[in-house]
Amino acid sequence: MKIEEIKIKDLHTDEFIKQQVEEISSVVGEGLAINALSGGVDSSVVTMIGYKALGDRLKTCFIDSGLMREGEPDHIASLFGDLGVNVEIIDAQNQFFEALKGKVDPEEKREAITQTFYAVVFAQLAKQSGAGYVFQGTNYTDIEETVAGIKRQHNIIEQLGINPEEQYGYKIIEPLIQLRKPAIRALAKTLGLPEELYNRPPFPGPGLAARVIGEVTQERVEIARKATKIVEDELCNLGAFQYLAILHEDRVTGIRDGKRDYGMQIEVRCWDSEDAITGSPTKLSYDVLNRLGERITTEVLGVVSVTYNITKKPPSTIETI
Ligand code: XMP
Repeated sequence: MKIEEIKIKDLHTDEFIKQQVEEISSVVGEGLAINALSGGVDSSVVTMIGYKALGDRLKTCFIDSGLMREGEPDHIASLFGDLGVNVEIIDAQNQFFEALKGKVDPEEKREAITQTFYAVVFAQLAKQSGAGYVFQGTNYTDIEETVAGIKRQHNIIEQLGINPEEQYGYKIIEPLIQLRKPAIRALAKTLGLPEELYNRPPFPGPGLAARVIGEVTQERVEIARKATKIVEDELCNLGAFQYLAILHEDRVTGIRDGKRDYGMQIEVRCWDSEDAITGSPTKLSYDVLNRLGERITTEVLGVVSVTYNITKKPPSTIETI
């Protein structure tokens, strides 16, 4: 089935939410559903629409893959708790790191994450709870890039010819599949989500694994996590579309305390973009760049080099795997 985009100019948010609530209620009936909340605007909007439709028959889970930003699982669970939505944090760190062990190829890493999400974690959750449906916030851009063969987004299943019911034992419902990010942000506002949720920069489903070049181990993710925190602290008020820190695989010679230090490299990216389809590097001031270099090399042990990416998308992509 061809999916048609609903452009933001044609979107009536109240009407769209009402339609989705009705559709979900009629599809799920008296059954149960699981919702995968990551705290990004897409899954946050899906959570609220699903909650409106099903109330307590929706089990909202935050999958702690070990690949999220610092403090993310508890923070998101508490934000949604304030909105009346109970969020269960599922600790799946071991499963994800086990699946990623020894993998260096970007698409293999993405595939490992996809399989762990759908075939292991959700399949188990659906089985345990008896839920027949999993909701997720796949959007129009995810589909476009996956189908075009640019990057396999972690949440694309049916467009790649996989039948989730046969393979994993549940159906997938994707209420936002016709919308791009700005339209989803408009829905978030209408749904009364806190601004912190709809105005935060996009964060990829594969989490920090999309920002670790080479093998994704717990230790290497921790380096990317610390650098990400600094980049977010420093760049959050500049109005950029997205900003991130990438851990490189190659080490370089540096100096620390007057001695040779063969250390790690962090690359900072900061994007101006409307819809993540194309993007340009934000023109950061030298003062900002300087502070990033200082803070990352002093606060993240083992990093001796910090660079800023000056490439547009395309040919770059926003994330690195
Ligand atoms: P790229 O790296 O493809 O990213 O230029 C485009 C936008 O999508 C986000 N991104 C993802 N989002 N699942 C998601 O839900 C994914 O697998 C994924 N990969 C990238 C990225 O952060 C950017 O906003």
